[in-house]
Amino acid sequence: MKKGKQFKLRIEKLVYGGRGLGRINGRAVFVPQVVPGDVVVVEEVSRKSGFSEAKLVKILSRGKSRVKPPCPYFGKCGGCDWQHIRYEDQVRFKKEILEENLKKIGKIKKPNIDEAIPSPSPWHYRNRAQLKVKDGKVGFFEKGTHNVVDVERCLILKEEICDVMPKLKELLKDLPSEPSEFHIYSSSKEEVLLKIVFKNRFKKLDLSLERVREVLGLNVVGFGIYRQGKEGYPERIKFFGRDFTYEKVGKYKFRVSADSFFQVNHFQIGNLIDRVSRVAMEHQYMLAGDLYCGVGTLTIPVGRYVHRAFGIESNFSAVSDALYNRDINGLRNISFYCREALEGLEIVTEHNPDLVIFDPPRSGLSEKIVKAVASLSRLKKIVYVSCNPSTLARDIHLFHKFGINMEKAKLIDMFPQTFHVEAIAYLRKVK
Ligand SMILES: C[S@@+](CC[C@H](N)C(=O)[O-])C[C@H]1O[C@@H](n2cnc3c(N)ncnc32)[C@H](O)[C@@H]1O
Repeated sequence: MKKGKQFKLRIEKLVYGGRGLGRINGRAVFVPQVVPGDVVVVEEVSRKSGFSEAKLVKILSRGKSRVKPPCPYFGKCGGCDWQHIRYEDQVRFKKEILEENLKKIGKIKKPNIDEAIPSPSPWHYRNRAQLKVKDGKVGFFEKGTHNVVDVERCLILKEEICDVMPKLKELLKDLPSEPSEFHIYSSSKEEVLLKIVFKNRFKKLDLSLERVREVLGLNVVGFGIYRQGKEGYPERIKFFGRDFTYEKVGKYKFRVSADSFFQVNHFQIGNLIDRVSRVAMEHQYMLAGDLYCGVGTLTIPVGRYVHRAFGIESNFSAVSDALYNRDINGLRNISFYCREALEGLEIVTEHNPDLVIFDPPRSGLSEKIVKAVASLSRLKKIVYVSCNPSTLARDIHLFHKFGINMEKAKLIDMFPQTFHVEAIAYLRKVK
């Protein structure tokens, strides 16, 4: 296969990252927007050692999972990768990707993977979005570029904010200069928080909360002005109105501040809480430690079933929400610490929990964290929630070296129409 040349290819399977894999003379070729069973014409766009990247030119014969993507921006907009795949098959492929990672990287011969939990709705599930702004356009980055695709409706955003982009365009007229991003978050109380992020300096702003509400036609309870920070995180300059909202998930209430993390799929948060807290409900644990605890979304439900619990989280805003949430949920047996997970290891060792919960960012755990938790003398069980199957599998392999084995894993689909895989792994100390 030569760069620029076109070839016929049969797609064998999908891999993490969302692309399909086919082979030409044994050489792996990765192609986006295909499904297993597709026979396609592709064109090589880059060649690395051992594999090639190619683009789809023509579909000769369609795999069984193919459906017509309902969104007119699909293929161009970088927001979704898998709208061309029937939803049940998306879940099946994610489960296969999880299994493959656990086998190849986790070195588990036959991983025990439970039945998956599909999203109750594969559309309108996201409660928040980070929208890009450029030259008057509002939407998402085009795949692989920093060009903004002007989007009018986004079918994965909650109904309430699905049509918000044209209205944000209207709001641009009230701003002294063009921002680089709008972050919008709609809570289960149908309260909206908006962040307006500017790249650099900007002139004085003359915008009231009433005006934002009027233009967007939404129950905006507060909006903030932010500047793009050095590490990619927006830094707050000023907030107008309320800088927090509330979430209700089953019997739990959470305050979530504008700068705190909260799970994005509003249909699945209850299922995630249920699958994690069930462990504490079904067995008697004395002390639970929740690393990367956010606003206490998992710590508080788990805290109901254990003698004592603690959470560690690096974001100050999330920790203050977590402390507040502990109180509004009537739990007195939980402590929260504002620490980087690595710095919080001393606290973990001092508490010596028998149940540990992890829900780290995509990079997963560091070896130091795995070692410290594995050597806890009272440790019995680990529940590891992950949004990256390869770092999950890497960490599971490391835990295995310390005598901690994976009992089972479960896919919980938090991100329909995308390749992103969220999983819960249950690990137990065997020696
Ligand atoms: C995937 S979220 C999970 C939060 C929570 N378990 C939930 O379900 O809402 C990961 C959390 O880890 C926090 N975090 C990121 N890096 C961290 C670090 N190095 N140490 C501690 N917390 C960190 C983030 O602020 C975020 O709240």
